[in-house]
Amino acid sequence: MAGGRRQFLKFLGAGLTGAYASGLGPLAASAQAPRPAPFPPIRPTSRDDLVLPAGFRYDVLARWTDRLPGTNTRFGYNADFTAFLPIRSEPGQGVLVVNHEYVSLPEPGEIGVYPQTFPLVMGRAPRIADEMEDVGVSVLHLRQSASGRWEIIASPLTRRYDASSRMAASGPALQNAHGLAGTLANCSGCHTPWGTVLTCEENFQNCVPEAVDTAGRSRVGGRFDRDGAHFGWVVEIDPLDPDWTPVKHTMLGRYRHENVAMREAAGRPIVGYMGDDRVNGHVYRFVSAQSYTPGGDHRGTLLARGRLYVAVFHADGTGEWRELGPEAALEPNPNSSHPRVPRGAKTLGQVYADLGAIVTDAFGASNLVGASPCGRPEDIEIHPIDGSVYIAFTASATAPGHLFPNLYGEIWRIVEDGDGAGTRFTWMRWKAGGPNDEQRSGHVFAAPDNLAFDPAGHLWVVTDITTARLNADERFTTFHNNGMFFVPTSGTEAGVALQFASAPCEAELAGPSWTAARDTMFLSVQHPGEGSGIRGAGVKAPRGSNWPSRRLGDPPLPAVVAIRQ
Ligand code: FEO
Ligand code: CA
Ligand code: CA
Repeated sequence: MAGGRRQFLKFLGAGLTGAYASGLGPLAASAQAPRPAPFPPIRPTSRDDLVLPAGFRYDVLARWTDRLPGTNTRFGYNADFTAFLPIRSEPGQGVLVVNHEYVSLPEPGEIGVYPQTFPLVMGRAPRIADEMEDVGVSVLHLRQSASGRWEIIASPLTRRYDASSRMAASGPALQNAHGLAGTLANCSGCHTPWGTVLTCEENFQNCVPEAVDTAGRSRVGGRFDRDGAHFGWVVEIDPLDPDWTPVKHTMLGRYRHENVAMREAAGRPIVGYMGDDRVNGHVYRFVSAQSYTPGGDHRGTLLARGRLYVAVFHADGTGEWRELGPEAALEPNPNSSHPRVPRGAKTLGQVYADLGAIVTDAFGASNLVGASPCGRPEDIEIHPIDGSVYIAFTASATAPGHLFPNLYGEIWRIVEDGDGAGTRFTWMRWKAGGPNDEQRSGHVFAAPDNLAFDPAGHLWVVTDITTARLNADERFTTFHNNGMFFVPTSGTEAGVALQFASAPCEAELAGPSWTAARDTMFLSVQHPGEGSGIRGAGVKAPRGSNWPSRRLGDPPLPAVVAIRQ
């Protein structure tokens, strides 16, 4: 390791001993003196660049269409979640897993930056096969130079999974699926404690049919002309074993799967928390049937069997997990989307053919058991010190009686009763998004999306104000471009947001991760120029983008960057 290399954000592991408040009160003032900010916070800005605090810099590691060394494939579009796994036997090397969520096609009022830019960078018009290659997952074998810069190297580990790759399935659904292949709409995910990575299929309904019948059957169709029941799952991949076939774990449910966050303890079941990112979507929890053993070979198996639950949030701050199984009692949400209930039916098992059908239609089944409709659940993360669960709700809800009135979104904190695998919990609103207040700009955010904890238990939050609202809707002007915020969870500054990064125009930041040495943060820059496309002469920021080249007229390219100090 080069002597001059700085440990990025060295403060992350420092201090705060004894300051952490137990129970639900993370904002309890401690007697500690205020700490200096861990970096000089930036102000919100509409600059067309990835803007960082003084003393930090970024290198572009991979851009959309970059040829992956040693392969005949390319880095995909709209990078999202990233996960870094060190290669223990090779100091200075690791594997970076990067999700590719979707391609930016024309929405009402938008240019469709993907079809606009594809011919410029690829020299031909895009086909559906290109869209199918540009979603999924990139696995990048990285090596760090003496100067600290990371580069992708040719190796069997550097590879792609896309909408056509070979897949397997576990659990109660897809056991008789024909032609199971591909992963798409890959949004967030997580590491497993046994060294694999989970990637979550979110807005699959833009590519394949979403609706299923009460036997769990969909149909072949959509832009990608594929069976809709094959998508919307959590997929396990082994970044360090290219020969292992990824597994879709159906017991974790099928919905617009934003994320999964895992809690492990030796001799206990694995617990996974997940969100269904749609207006009035639900929060889920998986509890494995088998226990976790450190060092055990759980790849492909530990997530294959267990129970799936969905959250009910009561207005008094308590909550309960309701199991999505055949015995679950019907208590349908008013005016919600769910299958027709046969006359006299009292349980999910009397609506659906079997457990496989229930988990395949998890959104409908959740509405049938009275699960709480939420304000677009985005990322969920587990606090590394006290094990509480933080959920980013990125927007408000609309269902009758919902608990999500905040237009700017909120971060909630839940604490499980007992050992974390029971059915009761308490919840609190931990941090509200907004308001649109110029006096507080740089300390307020809107539309929280991905969350990440550092080892000291402080939260890093990236925002995803929708392209239609960003710098356009006057209720969102204070925030300028999307950004990244640091929010302590303990100490005298608990709950105070400090802006760390600002995204290029019409982009969101996504999927922060760190190296084991914590000298580098990896970060995705997703959909620059999504609304207005390439910025040309006469068009001013915040409309359009030329990132990362920043030359007027150049196509904006989604990318993943390495940030160092
Ligand atoms: Fe892919 Fe809900 O963000
Ligand atoms: Ca997200
Ligand atoms: Ca998002």
